[in-house]
This record gives sequence, structure tokens and C-alpha cells, in this order.
Amino acid sequence: MPNLEYAGDELPSPEEKTLFRKYEVGRLLGYGAFAKVYRARDVHTDQNVAIKAINKQRILKGGLAANVKREISIMRRLRHPNIVRLSEVLANKKKIYFVLEFAKGGELFAKVAKSRFSEHLSRRYFQQLISVIGYCHSRGVFHRDLKPENLLLDENWNLKVTDFGLSALTEQTGHDGLLHTLCGTPAYVAPEILAKKGYDGAKVDIWSCGIILFVLNAGYLPFNDPNLMVMYRKIYTGEFRVPRWTSPDLKRLLSRLLDTNPQTRITVNEIISDPWFKIGYKEVGFHHDYLELKDDNAGSGSTTSTGDNLKVMNAFDIITFSSGYNLSGLFDDREEGERFLSKNSPEKIIETVVTVAEGERLTVVTRKEWCVKVVGGHNSILEMTVELKRLTDELVVVEVRIRESEVGPSDRIYTDKIRPGLSELVYKTGPAGCP
Ligand code: ADE
Repeated sequence: MPNLEYAGDELPSPEEKTLFRKYEVGRLLGYGAFAKVYRARDVHTDQNVAIKAINKQRILKGGLAANVKREISIMRRLRHPNIVRLSEVLANKKKIYFVLEFAKGGELFAKVAKSRFSEHLSRRYFQQLISVIGYCHSRGVFHRDLKPENLLLDENWNLKVTDFGLSALTEQTGHDGLLHTLCGTPAYVAPEILAKKGYDGAKVDIWSCGIILFVLNAGYLPFNDPNLMVMYRKIYTGEFRVPRWTSPDLKRLLSRLLDTNPQTRITVNEIISDPWFKIGYKEVGFHHDYLELKDDNAGSGSTTSTGDNLKVMNAFDIITFSSGYNLSGLFDDREEGERFLSKNSPEKIIETVVTVAEGERLTVVTRKEWCVKVVGGHNSILEMTVELKRLTDELVVVEVRIRESEVGPSDRIYTDKIRPGLSELVYKTGPAGCP
């Protein structure tokens, strides 16, 4: 079970640098609009990790809470040798911490900046990038913000793409390409994003891959100008010149990748059969059961199921659901609720909820082993969903979600009538009781 001990609101002070008594936090590796990335060491295993600390308040202000929740669930399922692995998510009141695989080789583009790559090396990194893109796109996951900072290298000089599935956190707002100018260069942004036309995430990623391949081979950007408006115009028109050392096959592929028309732009499948691309390309083998987009038992970050259909909580669920440390309060202002721990069996909990609700003349609309939904009421209309998740052999997390709309004099059915009836089930409540 992940350690969810309260770690204070900020990163630890220099004298006391251990986060959650587990990660010794080191130097700042990078930062963006919402997050800072630190190098850290797992004090138990002595392994290096990267910790991305995300400011909840900024996410809330940017209206990105729902994206974060969705994208945590995407990120935790991505397993590919060239994607930075998310191993754990921790949180306190102000921050969410993503514990990521540490890419020891640093940024790929720091290497290109020193000297452009040979065509052979450019192809190798481009092949690894396309393998990642194919893997993610086939699972409906798009990066939408591929740029040099997201391309890292491991100790064996293999590519590691980071922030896949977390792109909402690196974008300034929505998908407004122009706002990228506030946090960085739009040089990697596809023309259809600049034109605010609405876009296909897959096509946008392919465009960015085209820019990346160009830079690997040339050592400079295809569309560049100190004046942003001029740069935009160059991107729109898509006119670029390849350096003289570029082979005809690579030139042909670049023009297919940097096609300003997303409809005719090359697809991943077409890239894989391209003559320049396929030289020496080896598909990465996957364990398919590992990759299924369903909850599995593979390590931290997955919600597991017990035989009785009770979901077992993990770090992700705990953060998402536990009050005080969570994001859930950010999602729907109209929805209220609470969470408590119970030592009773799921059957007993569901039975008690049903008895108390029916005593208040509410109607049970759904009843399962681990979930019950009731509706009804007189002066106010209540919709209450109670969901159970097993935390340990002994403990069950009871999550109550309520929507109550007043239609007459205030009569809080849940707080006044139902909650007192559930008190016998409660072992611990509130943030202090949250695991
Ligand atoms: N910079 C940003 N993320 C990183 C990671 N996972 N490893 C190393 N450096 C990084």
C-alpha cells in the first residue's frame, strides 16, 4: 500500500528533504506553468526518480481538474520501453506528486544542440518516437504537446518520452495554440492548432514528430523567426528547406510529415512502411495483457478487483477520492459527499444504507454488492450514491456522493436523516481518517 502520510504543503525544506519519508528530493530538473520536476532518490531502494510536483490551485484556476483526473488514469496504463513510467502518485493539500522513472541521459535536444545527428542516429530516435506514438494512438492517447523538453534519454541512450497523457498539464489552457506563446515556442505546433480549426490529436502529434525529425537531422528548426507572427506564417504555409546533406528519401518523408493539410498528412501506418523509416526498424514486443485498457494487478497505480467485485483502493483512487488530499472536490461543485472507513462487511454496509434510506421513503434504484443508489424526498430531492472500496482485509472505504436540490423549506435529508442512521458503520471519518 503506498505511503500517503501527510507531507506538508510545500516541498521539504533543505534541512529536511524527505518527501513522504520516502523520497529524498534533489535539484530542480525543470519547470512549466503548473509543475516543477525534481530529481529525487527513493531512500528504501536507493533508486533515482523524477518527481513532478503539480500545483492544484493553478490546475483549478486553469479549469483543468477534469483533465488531470482523466489523464492520471491514462498515464498509469501506458507501458512502453520508450515512455517514462509513472510509478506512484502522492498528494498533500496543495500539490500532487507524480513519481516518474528517472531518465539519466537528460534531454535529447541538449545533445542535438551540441551537434546535429547523423541520418542513422536520427532514424534510430525517430523510430523509437514513432513506436511510442503508434502505441499510444492505438490506445486513443494523444500527446498534443510533443516538444524537446518531453524527449529524454535513459542511461543506454534510448529515448524516453515524458508527459504522455499529462499534456493537459503542460498546456496553458484548453487547446488554444496561441497561448503556447506564453510558455514557450510554438515551433512544434501544427498549423491547424494555430488556425484554431479544431484538430485531430493523432495528426497533430505526427506534425510534431516531423519537426523533431527535421531538428535531429538539421540541428535547427524548419520554421523559425524571432518575430512570432512571421514564424506562424511560415508554419501555415509549410514552406521549409532541408539542409543539403539530407538524403532524397528523408526529404520525401519530411515533406509527408510536414504536410500542412492534416487530411493528407502521413499516418503512423504509412510511416512504418516508408523506405527511409523502415531500415533496421524492429517493432517493440509487448506483453499484451500488460497493455489492456482495463484495470489489472500490475503494481501500484492500478485498481484491482477482489473476487466479490469490491474494488481495492490504490494510491490513485485514494488521491482522487480522499478529502483534504484530493482533486475530487474540484470536479463538480453541485455534488457533495463524504467518505469514511468502516470495519463492517460490504453486505452489512449496503444493507444498512438501504434500511435507513427506505425508512426515509427513498427509492433504491441500483443495488449491487459494492454500490447502492437511492433517490427521492419531499422538500428536497436527493440522489445518493454509496460506493464501497476495499482498503485492507479489515477496512472498507465508504464513499457517499449526494446531489440534493431544495424545492421547499430546507430539509437536508442526508445530514439530518440519513447520516445519523449510518453512524454505526463509521470507523473513522474525514481527512484524519483518510488512509
Ligand atoms: N526532466 C523531466 N522529467 C524527467 C525525468 N523523468 N527524468 C529526468 N529528467 C527529467
